[in-house]
Amino acid sequence: MSRIFSGVQPTGNLHLGNYLGAIRNFVRLQDDYECIYCAVDMHAITVWQDPQELRSNIREVAAAYLASGVDPKKSIIFAQSNVAAHAELAWIFNCVARLGWLNRMTQFKEKAGKNKENASLGLYAYPSLMAADILVYKATHVPVGEDQKQHLELTRDIAQKFNTDFGTETFPLVEPLIFGEATRVMSLRDGSKKMSKSDPSDYSRITLTDGPDEIAKKLKKARTDAEPIPEKVEDLEGRPEASNLVGIYAALADISKADVLAEHAGSQFSAFKPALTELAVEKFGPIGTEMKRLLADPGYVDSVLKDGADRARAIAEPVIREVKETVGFLVS
Ligand code: AMP
Ligand code: TRP
Repeated sequence: MSRIFSGVQPTGNLHLGNYLGAIRNFVRLQDDYECIYCAVDMHAITVWQDPQELRSNIREVAAAYLASGVDPKKSIIFAQSNVAAHAELAWIFNCVARLGWLNRMTQFKEKAGKNKENASLGLYAYPSLMAADILVYKATHVPVGEDQKQHLELTRDIAQKFNTDFGTETFPLVEPLIFGEATRVMSLRDGSKKMSKSDPSDYSRITLTDGPDEIAKKLKKARTDAEPIPEKVEDLEGRPEASNLVGIYAALADISKADVLAEHAGSQFSAFKPALTELAVEKFGPIGTEMKRLLADPGYVDSVLKDGADRARAIAEPVIREVKETVGFLVS
């Protein structure tokens, strides 16, 4: 049986990359699979979060799921810290994962920056908690953007070592689901950096709650080169900004990059940008409006999170019990 799990950090500024790389795919999977979608608040606090903002950002992630079309009756939507089994399994995984494995994690290196000595221990152990998120449900498939591939490989390594150490088949080996034409959306200001929530420039990203004017302004300012749109996808190579905008268009229109080029080859970006703006406004407008409506009265969002946590706990509890027995803890 397949089971889907994925998570988004409630760290504000949810953007086009989060939507095209992850959330949109969550919606597409829910008709065919049992899906569990989480606001990973324990991951968020691996770097400093203001408590008041964290609370509202958790609701924002849930609202983004709902507004994008995740159906809370079919899928489970909840906040990570409300299901204690994540933290329990993470500790056990901290004792399975090897320091050498974590030392190779590129996201830690990027986030810790030059001052590694001052990074939190939680930031270092982040991938082990992520493995626990997934495996506490014995999930088999994980829809994410390209940047999470290495963490999912580590999840497989942890599952495999646990199974081998204890001579069991407790955990499945998870498969990443990385699909669509925009699995790695780049910054609008710099085609060599990925679009991120933490970029100091608001012009680097389009957020889910940007209105038509903001979308238009940001795309107008988006960096491009002086060449027109090429005829062949290969000719986008070495043109990161051009490739990024074409990829975003393709993903939003649900067509291939080749189809976008067939339609727009020879145009200058000054002509392409208004078409992209129109498309982005058409796709994002309703999502942003619905998110704002949901967040104006968080009672409904909170009730979805509570119901989700109850359903998630019911799946996780027998698994954590089985794991504790396997490890040799006395389970009462
Ligand atoms: P995060 O913002 O790190 O919590 O990421 C939440 C989800 O969005 C993960 O599945 C990421 O892989 C995905 N994601 C984040 N940034 C991007 C991006 N620039 N392009 C595509 N996917 C992304
Ligand atoms: N690390 C992911 C990110 O930053 C978020 C995350 C935490 C996650 N736990 C997860 C994603 C489990 C998929 C499955 O994007």
